[in-house]
Amino acid sequence: MRKKIAVLPGDGIGPEVIEQALKVMDAVADRYDHFFEYCYADVGAVAIEKHGDPLPDFTLETCVNSDAILFGAIGHPKYDNDPNAKVRPEQGLLKLRKELGLYANLRPVTTYPKLLHLSPLKEEKVKDVDLLILRELTGGIYFGTKGKDEKAGTAFDTCEYSVAEIERITKLAFESAANRKKKVTLVDKANVLETSRLWRDTVRKIAKNYPEIELDFMYVDNAAMQLIQYPKNFDVILTSNMFGDILSDEASVIAGSMGLLPSASIGAKTSLFEPIHGSFPQAAGEDIANPMATILSVAMLLESFELLQEARVVRTVVKKLLEKGIGTPELKPKITYSCSQVGDMIAYMISESEKFSMKEEKMNDGISTII
Ligand code: IPM
Ligand code: MG
Repeated sequence: MRKKIAVLPGDGIGPEVIEQALKVMDAVADRYDHFFEYCYADVGAVAIEKHGDPLPDFTLETCVNSDAILFGAIGHPKYDNDPNAKVRPEQGLLKLRKELGLYANLRPVTTYPKLLHLSPLKEEKVKDVDLLILRELTGGIYFGTKGKDEKAGTAFDTCEYSVAEIERITKLAFESAANRKKKVTLVDKANVLETSRLWRDTVRKIAKNYPEIELDFMYVDNAAMQLIQYPKNFDVILTSNMFGDILSDEASVIAGSMGLLPSASIGAKTSLFEPIHGSFPQAAGEDIANPMATILSVAMLLESFELLQEARVVRTVVKKLLEKGIGTPELKPKITYSCSQVGDMIAYMISESEKFSMKEEKMNDGISTII
């Protein structure tokens, strides 16, 4: 397979985790005889520094002309401390979502037996959690009419949704659930918001086409509690842009490390894949960041090309390393490795996966030869 990948490393630890992800892509290309062409472009604070724009035209064009986008992270403390800054790194990401029509953000949360102790929740609550948040990404309060009246001392943001916007992500939610635990929970605030009532009506109608999938509804305030008390009860959580932003951050701590969680933002023509962690500026250049979230995002990217076997191998190798107690410092592993060493190890094990056949003792050999 031949594919063009737009590579947007961005800020902070973005470039170093992307470097590891590309080692993994190269190993997959080599092993399975694919060709991935990488087209680099700037985004975020680095793009503001170099071009005065968080999403320069060149970057947008590169993304439009790609089969998929691999994204690192954006953000810089300079802007975090100044919410009034006119030009901000986040604008780059929001514009990219809108321009490319990246309408659905998928954030799977899975747990790993060896890492349950890292979760702030009790181990028995977290064990076997496997949920998927599907957040609408190009509508709602993020993109509605907004304004400020300095004289009156007022400001407003409008939340708007159309049936068409709700329908396309709802279909994706039901299709995702069909391959999982067959349950969709629509999270909303239908006791208060008109848009939430439109979501309920629309989702109910679509649900009729998926009789094998269970559908339930939950108010967002209740969902925030249930996610912490009974995370195992969820399968697919379908929700609007703002609720999804908040709940997906809440859900991300359940697994114990942000450094393990991938995401995909699905568009009609091209899709974007990125780790859910931010730019972590304090760690930039230190070679201590966990590249696994980005590498698992590569697995989602491969899946979007229907390279299912390749995606499975990437996930298996990551899982095996974690089972062996190998990881970057924040996982408090038995054996601590740097960001680039973890990248090298995963890439190597993918290249050699046939030889190893993923067998336990062979994996051990593989690890020992590269340590
Ligand atoms: C996310 C982030 C973004 C959002 C920011 C950076 C604009 O928090 O991807 O969840 O709010 O969507
Ligand atoms: Mg967020």
